[in-house]
Amino acid sequence: MPLDTTSHDVPVARTIFDMRELVARWHGAGEKVALVPTMGALHAGHLSLIRVAKDKGATKIIVSIFVNPTQFGPGEDYEAYPRTEASDAEKLVGQADLIFAPNAAEMYPTGYATAVSVSGVTNTLEGEARPTHFDGVATIVAKLLIAAQADCAVFGEKDYQQLLTIRQMARDLALPVEILGGPILREPDGLAMSSRNIYLTPGERAAAGKLNIILRETATAVTNGADISSATEKAKTRLLDLGFSQVDYLTVRDTETLAPIDAITKPARILVAAKIGKPRLLDNMAIEVKS
Ligand code: PAF
Repeated sequence: MPLDTTSHDVPVARTIFDMRELVARWHGAGEKVALVPTMGALHAGHLSLIRVAKDKGATKIIVSIFVNPTQFGPGEDYEAYPRTEASDAEKLVGQADLIFAPNAAEMYPTGYATAVSVSGVTNTLEGEARPTHFDGVATIVAKLLIAAQADCAVFGEKDYQQLLTIRQMARDLALPVEILGGPILREPDGLAMSSRNIYLTPGERAAAGKLNIILRETATAVTNGADISSATEKAKTRLLDLGFSQVDYLTVRDTETLAPIDAITKPARILVAAKIGKPRLLDNMAIEVKS
């Protein structure tokens, strides 16, 4: 039976077949279709990705909600990851035209045996801290992109290395989809929005709000000629002093390859992953070259 697209609620497709049928109808009617892949627990950052798609001319928006088991490592929060489909669906009224919310058996049916693995840009940072993570991300995103057959797909810059990985994968596999990045959305104190921020206690939340400030100050210092290694070491110490329990990396990298750099001679990126309380927070920002 075709999906009911007439009610006030956003229709939900549980199968690739149902989603494809609707997308084929949309394409037949000349619509430009965007996919916004998410793991749910939607916040304003996700909704901003929908705006990016609309600004780029998308006329139909699919938001996928799937907590992808293969991108979580042993001991990570797969089981505990917030699953809030009913409230997510409410947030998407008037924003999206379809929710794709498959179960694990739809995406990884019995006998599933394929993985997509991107090398190069994944060999560092998150790839070192979470060795199986990007294979899981590349595999599910490839499957979602092929399943949805959308014209474009939007990913947040908060997961900057993920965005570069997906761009590489889409390029290498010649997937007929435009990959768009959406700027990081921040809370009033500058903390990058994330579904995992709900794990922070009030004290941790206050300290977490300083992460972006320290990152920005370090970015400004290196733009102005400070030694990158001493500036990043100083920033790590400040985070530990604030109550962060672990800084996996705080580093300045080439903006395209994520290779380490020791001087700002072309556009670069400062990236951090640091643990406070339960969550591991990620943030990053551009470092401009001083002309
Ligand atoms: O960024 C996320 O929420 C996930 O990694 C993604 C892209 C939806 C793949 O599961």
